[in-house]
Amino acid sequence: MKLIFLGPPGAGKGTQAERIAERYQIAHISTGDMLRSEIRNATLLGAQAKSFIDRGELVPDSVIIGMVENRIQEDDCKNGFLLDGFPRTTAQADALGELTEIDYVVDIEVPSERLVARISGRRMCPDCGAAYHVTTHAADTCDKCGAKLYQRDDDREETVHNRLVVYEKKTAPLIAYYQERGKLLTVDGDQAIDSVTDSIVKGLAK
Ligand code: AP5
Repeated sequence: MKLIFLGPPGAGKGTQAERIAERYQIAHISTGDMLRSEIRNATLLGAQAKSFIDRGELVPDSVIIGMVENRIQEDDCKNGFLLDGFPRTTAQADALGELTEIDYVVDIEVPSERLVARISGRRMCPDCGAAYHVTTHAADTCDKCGAKLYQRDDDREETVHNRLVVYEKKTAPLIAYYQERGKLLTVDGDQAIDSVTDSIVKGLAK
């Protein structure tokens, strides 16, 4: 199965992607995690990406498309994959369409007033990429691997605002793009985490 998860920053794409990829035994490909790993490893790509990420802007299509093209050819993608945070522009969606056929595009809808609170309270694991929220996870270490959690630089309030503006302008048009192609599955992301997972699983089973 080949899936895309769409939705604004903070919609819960990463949280749900981890669960759904495990359930269907497919690779979880988060372009945000890949870019953050490049930054941590101080690569040239990481240095190029950092200035865009820190401003809440998108990294150029030319960089991202090549990165995803290579990643989906790796062995762990043979059984399928879940793209979390890609595509984010029509050019990325067109390029993906040239590479492979996607089965479903899951659009996770959350009212915009909820997003800032979700993002500003998020804490991330630097090692396994798990996301937590300060209201539901009091410890400052990861439940899965024990690493000390951190707050992403682009989760500061001023950057979050620009990320939401960029989402509306450049990524939200992909909802209509995939609707026209008969691929879209819309899920209410404003429910408890387990209920969102159930809605996605039910939608995929139809
Ligand atoms: P990326 O890392 O992809 O960030 P994003 O899309 O902005 O999404 P987030 O990670 O902020 O949110 P999410 O939807 O995954 O929510 P999460 O599950 O963590 O990208 C970062 C940057 O990299 C971009 O701005 C861009 O610069 C660059 N980039 C990446 N991909 C690119 C591309 N394709 N092209 C160009 N540039 C690219 O949940 C958020 C919080 O809410 C957590 O605390 C979580 O615990 C909580 N939560 C989750 N679900 C629920 C729920 N149901 N109820 C209550 N709380 C919940």
